[in-house]
Parts: sequence; C-alpha cells; structure tokens
Amino acid sequence: MNIPFAKILCNGHEFEYVRQVIESGWLTTARVCREFEQKFADYIGAKYVCAVNSCTAALHLAAESLQIKSGDKVFVPTMTFTASAEVLRYLNADPIFLDVEYGTVLLTKEILEEGIRKNPDAKAVVIVHYAGQAANMKELIPVCRKYNIKIIEDAAHAFPTKHDDKFVGTFGDVTCFSFYANKTITTGEGGMIATDNEELFNRVKIMRLHGINRDIWDRFTSNSAKWEYDIVAPGFKYNMPDINAAIGLAQLEHAEEFRQCRQKCAEFYFDQLADIEEIDLPFINCKKEEHSWHIFQIVLNKKLSNKRNDIIQSLNSKGIGVSVHYKPLHRMTYYRDRYHLQPEDFPNAERIWNGNLSLPIFPSMSKEELKYVTTTIKEILS
Ligand SMILES: Cc1ncc(COP(=O)(O)O)c(C=O)c1O
Repeated sequence: MNIPFAKILCNGHEFEYVRQVIESGWLTTARVCREFEQKFADYIGAKYVCAVNSCTAALHLAAESLQIKSGDKVFVPTMTFTASAEVLRYLNADPIFLDVEYGTVLLTKEILEEGIRKNPDAKAVVIVHYAGQAANMKELIPVCRKYNIKIIEDAAHAFPTKHDDKFVGTFGDVTCFSFYANKTITTGEGGMIATDNEELFNRVKIMRLHGINRDIWDRFTSNSAKWEYDIVAPGFKYNMPDINAAIGLAQLEHAEEFRQCRQKCAEFYFDQLADIEEIDLPFINCKKEEHSWHIFQIVLNKKLSNKRNDIIQSLNSKGIGVSVHYKPLHRMTYYRDRYHLQPEDFPNAERIWNGNLSLPIFPSMSKEELKYVTTTIKEILS
C-alpha cells in the first residue's frame, strides 16, 4: 500500500467553477473572490472577512491592523509553524514563546497568566487552535480583556472548528485561516481573515492590496474615473485571485462532509491505538463534532524515547506517509539564538517534541488504509 500523509479531495464543482473563471476572462480578485468571502462569512457567522493569498499574509495583516509595532511583545505558543511568529518579526515586534498543555498542545489560561506575570507589558497573543481543536476561548478571552491583550487567532488548522457551539472566527479580535494545499479545505494557496471589527477590516482590506483606497473590481465596475485611486499606506500584495477563490467555493460546499470523514479516521485511530502503552493519544476537550481533525498527532512516550525517527523510517518503508508537528520554535536556530531560549523553559513542548508523530488523515482515506496504518504501527512496536 502507498498511503500519503495528506491528500486533497476535489470531487465537487472545482473544475466547473475554475473553468467559469477562465472563460470569464477575469482571473484576478473580483466577483468570485467576493462570493467566496460572502459564503465563508455566512458559514462561520463572522461580520467581516477578507480573502488573502495565505494564512501567513492573514497573520501579517492581522498584526499590522492591530497596530503591533516595533518592540511590542506578543505571546506565541512554541508548538506551532513559524508563520505564527515570523509575521511579528516583519513588524519588528518580538514573539514571547509560551509552553503548551501536554495532550491538547494548546495554550491554557494558566500558561497565559504565567506569561503575563513575566511580561506584563505584552500587547497581544497569537492563539493557535492546534490540530483543529479550539483553545478554550471562554477562559482565555477574560484573561486577555483583563490585561488589555489583543487576540489574534491562528486558525490555520481550524476550519470548520467550533467552541462552545460557535465557529472559530467569531471569538478574538481577528482570526486567520489557511487554505494551503493540505488543509481541511484548500484553494491551493490561500487564507482568510475574519473579524467583527469594522475599523480593523477596513485597514486589512486596504493593506491587502498595496494600500490602494479602491479595489480593482470597484474601479472596473464603477461609473467614476476607473483609472483614479489613491495610496493611503505602503500596503502589500496579498489578494486572493478568482481562480483560487473558485476552488475555495467548491471546497466550502463539502467542508462539513470532509470534516466528518476526518472524524471517522480519528475515531478509528482512537479505537485501534487505545491499548498501546507506548503511545499517548491526543486529549480531546471538545465534542467530536466541534473538531476539524486537521492533524492526528500521537506522542511516543518515555518507553520509546529517541525511537521516533526510526519508527518514521519504518512506516515510510511500508508505504505510510507521516509528518511531525512540530519541531518547537524554541529549538529553531533563529528564534533560539535571537531570544536565548532554553528547552527546560518549555517542559511540555519538549515532552511532545521527543515523540510527536502525525498519522495520515484525509477525507478519502479508506477503512483498509486506516487498518493498514494501525496494524503496521502495532507490528513495528511489537
Ligand atoms: C499553525 C499554522 N499557522 C500558519 C500557517 C501558515 O499557513 P499558510 O501556508 O497558508 O501561509 C500554517 C501552515 O501550515 C500553520 O500550520
């Protein structure tokens, strides 16, 4: 068998919608992008959304529009992809890395409060909804409000994810989604910003496209001079082309179906791997239906310490693709050296890093493929 770590499923209107865009003769950001934005906003129940060309772009725009500036401190969990922290460096702000809870790999109220005690002047926090499970926003938001900490949610893994019956994207000041090729829905490359704050949304919209005060489609369709625009800030080139939005529209139609298929994969793994002493399964604090199941991460515990790489090699040799989420950022040369970070300050992340291993999970994964993965793991560990 050959089982990839991730596999997209485009079995809906993807080809039809992309064809329509090509045939329309208008390939860049316009009507289809707007339709995708509208449908995404309706889906999660956010007031304003803005489509961009990656979640990294979304995070950058989010931090910029929250007026994160040079020298500002922003909390970031160490167990995340570099994008969550690098965008702060674009603005010359400084990430303050925090440990995460073992099991959920999420920030908790206690960890954030400890961070605030040590850094009372911090301006914001990036909350990562790890693997598709929402952080406990009900507990984190009051702490942030109390200490005047702005909230950027990194929901790259978390669509469609719910917390307390509401979709992620409707909690913090601003939320950033990813539609990268291996995400729960994809546009090839892409991202989305969601917010209920009109002022922030207006800033994001302008900065998404060079700081121009009118978007291309407005100019094209308006009766006033089409050529005229003003530059109100040195913005970026982060817009989502209609070609990508067309794929997104088709994927959105199947988002809940994809989520359910991923959930079935996760349920199979929980069932089949529960009795293996050497493996710690992910801790789930939400209803299964509220999790987007983007990543299924196991942790090989103490009994298998230092065996992770050998086990990955064995799985690969049997045709099973796996991944590691993540080597924590405090271990990455740039962050480690710039901020003099020590592994002992991140005990839970270190415990995860010593054995973390993400198993294949994708909507079209069959029972046979799942069975093959779990029996192979059992064989390797026996
Ligand atoms: C937690 C997290 N944040 C941000 C990103 C960046 O997403 P994108 O590739 O859409 O820029 C990723 C990408 O995998 C991610 O996993």
